[in-house]
Amino acid sequence: MQIAVVLAGGVGTRMYPASSDECPKQFLSFGEDGMSLLSRTVQRVENAVDAVYVLTRPEYADRISEHAPDATVLTEPQGKDTGPALVYAAHRLRDVGSDPVLLCVPSDHYVGHSFASISQRAMNVAQETNELVTLGIEPTRAATGYGYINPDEKRGDHFTVDGFHEKPDPETASQYIYDGFYWNAGVFSWTPEALLDAARDTELRPLVEALQSGNEQEGFDAVESVSIDHAVLESTDGLRMVTADVPWDDLGSWDALRRVCDTDENGTVALGDVLTIDTDDCVIAAGDESQISAVGVSELTIAAYDGRVLVVPTDETQRVRDVVDERSER
Ligand code: GDD
Ligand code: MG
Repeated sequence: MQIAVVLAGGVGTRMYPASSDECPKQFLSFGEDGMSLLSRTVQRVENAVDAVYVLTRPEYADRISEHAPDATVLTEPQGKDTGPALVYAAHRLRDVGSDPVLLCVPSDHYVGHSFASISQRAMNVAQETNELVTLGIEPTRAATGYGYINPDEKRGDHFTVDGFHEKPDPETASQYIYDGFYWNAGVFSWTPEALLDAARDTELRPLVEALQSGNEQEGFDAVESVSIDHAVLESTDGLRMVTADVPWDDLGSWDALRRVCDTDENGTVALGDVLTIDTDDCVIAAGDESQISAVGVSELTIAAYDGRVLVVPTDETQRVRDVVDERSER
């Protein structure tokens, strides 16, 4: 049985002030059709699998069905990033249907066209090899917000992997691109057993063991917040990569909107009630009642939501994380 696990428990820090603890990124819409990122993700995967589960933390569980009415909600006991969450999902789904294979998909992606056939390929490789499979995208810039995959040998329709490196610094990212590494799309496929086996050899071992003995909360208490990339993918031996040749982006930070949204004749993306005069190459987003007017500026991101205003050079939008950290300490 092929099961999609849509990851929808993140906070989306770098999309501040559009995202907040109460309204994280997956519930927001950045397109004209008003569809949230989560609804769009579920729509993208539902025809590729037999069942769709949306995996989230307790704080957001009540809101999932608004965005994904036909999916089953799976709630991890505590939000501790994607490592514990995906181990929990594997444990819970291990006996669903016969021979379950999971397709784990983030809910913050832009995907230019159908990826049903690529998903199918990833699930087939996961089932045939019983290894962990990730989707690789050919990089177009030295992005620091992604994981990088070093492909090894081609094995028919996929590659074995010689190393996985999460979120490198800019110099290392440039070197990885030069060396022919791929971006990790953050879309994974594995059988529940393959993930649980791999996680048993990592810092997530106490969680795997506690889940097996029926102590969910104890298991979450025993581990730190950690992404699946750091906890498992960087250390596992048997990773496989299926390449995906689709227009793709992670809507993780404001600069991504310049790549995926329509721009005006001066290269500016304007969302909401926005007026621009002599303004070039900006991202300007006015939420709800906000009104933004920009005159004579270039390469800036300006966003206003619920009385919170952000101004940052568009090439530094990864630093919005620091704003959120500092604000939470006040
Ligand atoms: N259920 C649950 N619980 N979901 C979570 C949690 C959690 O605690 N934390 C994050 N998520 C969800 C987010 O909502 C998102 O859909 C997905 O997991 C990925 O989390 P991000 O926080 O967006 O990760 P990232 O973009 O920094 O990095 C990942 O994706 C990149 C590609 O988009 C990594 O896999 C990178 O290696 C990869 O390149
Ligand atoms: Mg992301």
